[in-house]
Amino acid sequence: MTQQASITVDGQTLPLLGFGTWQLEPQDARRMVAEALRIGYRHIDTAWIYKNEAAVGDGIRDSGVARDNIWLTTKIWVAHFERDALLRQAEESATSLGFTPDLLLLHWPKVTPSIPDTIAALNEAKDRGLTRAVGVSNYPSTQFREAQSASDAKLITNQVEYHPYLSLKTLRATAAELGSSITAWSPLAQGQIADDPVIGEIARAHGKTPGQVTLRWLIQQDVIAIPRTTKPQRAAENFDIWEFSLSAEEMERVHALARPDGRLGDWIDRDFVWDQD
Ligand SMILES: NC(=O)c1ccc[n+]([C@@H]2O[C@H](COP(=O)([O-])OP(=O)(O)OC[C@H]3O[C@@H](n4cnc5c(N)ncnc54)[C@H](OP(=O)(O)O)[C@@H]3O)[C@@H](O)[C@H]2O)c1
Repeated sequence: MTQQASITVDGQTLPLLGFGTWQLEPQDARRMVAEALRIGYRHIDTAWIYKNEAAVGDGIRDSGVARDNIWLTTKIWVAHFERDALLRQAEESATSLGFTPDLLLLHWPKVTPSIPDTIAALNEAKDRGLTRAVGVSNYPSTQFREAQSASDAKLITNQVEYHPYLSLKTLRATAAELGSSITAWSPLAQGQIADDPVIGEIARAHGKTPGQVTLRWLIQQDVIAIPRTTKPQRAAENFDIWEFSLSAEEMERVHALARPDGRLGDWIDRDFVWDQD
């Protein structure tokens, strides 16, 4: 297997590059998870709401890769934030996957139940052995801080939209301050990076593709990236990022692509606001 980078947070080591499964129908999720693991990925991201946890579990078993060598993340859907519902879904997800996940995330912040109540239930899921670690997803800095202050366990990541068209400066600083990490969803801006002239120019200079440059830009920030594809060849392309690096100047050129309207998926509760940059 090609040497790949990882990040250690609160004693848990996560591969910086994972494989995302949002919008993958069960048959594609099973096929592509097995393929990704054969290519060398050792980190898989799913969620209850993706309706493919069972297929993801099948893909892991099909691959023949030992479970212990894979980082597996799933998420508690917002309809299940009351204590009993959360614990029930955590059990259901583990049963569907056929494995206890390594990481269980709260999928989006909610006002009710309160963040401390939901975090207490998430900690209870961990204490019951329904996950090894816990975290959040789509939490702006204020809610991320509130969640960590309410949590006995370290929230080891905040999985949020992040790609060259979003700055995320404030939230990255908050994650660092809390001793946590950022996981980038839609790391390829859902494919938009393929036509970007600046990323294209950097890619040509390295003999790489825009996707590879973008993923390299993320992992060089110690940000975890979880690209998704239905195509084995692209999964291999996206994984082939270990033998080149971007200069400080190239990193800055990609950072400079951030723009105010760069957000692709804004489903945040109206009571919360994103960090301004
Ligand atoms: N926590 C959350 O709320 C949340 C929200 C959204 C996503 N996620 C997670 O993050 C993962 C990734 O995000 P995403 O699926 O939205 O978007 P993404 O990975 O940024 O982009 C996926 C799209 O890009 C295309 N693509 C893949 N590799 C490419 C390459 N090298 N060059 C050009 N295009 C490429 C794919 O098309 P083909 O299939 O045709 O290759 C697909 O249409 C999800 O699968 C999911 O696991 C989490």
